[in-house]
Amino acid sequence: MQKLELLYEGKAKKVYATDDPALVIVDYKDDATAFNGAKKGTIAGKGVINNQMTNRFMAKLETAGVPTHFVRELSERETVVKKVSIVPLEVIIRNISAGSFAKRYGVEEGIVFDEPTIEFSYKCDALDDPLLNTSHALALKLATPEEIAVIEKYAFAVNDFLKSFWSSCGVTLVDFKLEFGRLADGRLVLADEISPDTCRLWDSKTHEKLDKDRFRRDLGGVEGAYAEVMRRMMEAL
Ligand code: TMP
Ligand code: ASP
Repeated sequence: MQKLELLYEGKAKKVYATDDPALVIVDYKDDATAFNGAKKGTIAGKGVINNQMTNRFMAKLETAGVPTHFVRELSERETVVKKVSIVPLEVIIRNISAGSFAKRYGVEEGIVFDEPTIEFSYKCDALDDPLLNTSHALALKLATPEEIAVIEKYAFAVNDFLKSFWSSCGVTLVDFKLEFGRLADGRLVLADEISPDTCRLWDSKTHEKLDKDRFRRDLGGVEGAYAEVMRRMMEAL
């Protein structure tokens, strides 16, 4: 399958048309940004890890009953996916307090919740992805009530799967962000990526951060952390 014209370039990926109107090719970059692009850098090898990790998770999630956009891996950094129109919601699940949750509510990081939380942000860089609730999402017609219900069901199913997978690797899944897309017939599928860019992953014993927070917070050892979680994933597969 051939890459045709560039359809879209995001912060971490490029999307190309193909000769099949229902399929596009995603090309993962090593570029890293944080704070809505205010901080920029490169994480060497990240594109390869994020591509391969995402694809392995998407394939597993399909068999666990969560439909995804994944079709097939083309190369180290490139994957064929179904063309979707992205629902402009960032869907965030949290198992443990961290990041913007800890900041917003004035609590420390590391509080283990009895039940996972779910929240939505309006995917809009110009507005800095503001937090919004279901009634706001409905008022703005970002999704239908039926779509929100399906998104919530899939997001919690992804959490169940990822939590238990990472736990078997000695990694604690703190929180993560998902995006969903609509196929031409309106069906919702999981899209975007599942990677150390979009998940907080802590070593279960030492609580060492093994994700993009090392880049966001200038902790050093960014490439090593990405390589370590990928190594643990491959060992567990
Ligand atoms: P937050 O605590 O900063 O709201 O982040 C929650 C989770 O979402 C965390 O695992 C990182 C991920 N995330 C993204 O994937 N993209 C983003 O733009 C942001 C802000 C967070
Ligand atoms: N999506 C954020 C940005 O673009 C990055 C993040 O914090 O993950 O800057």
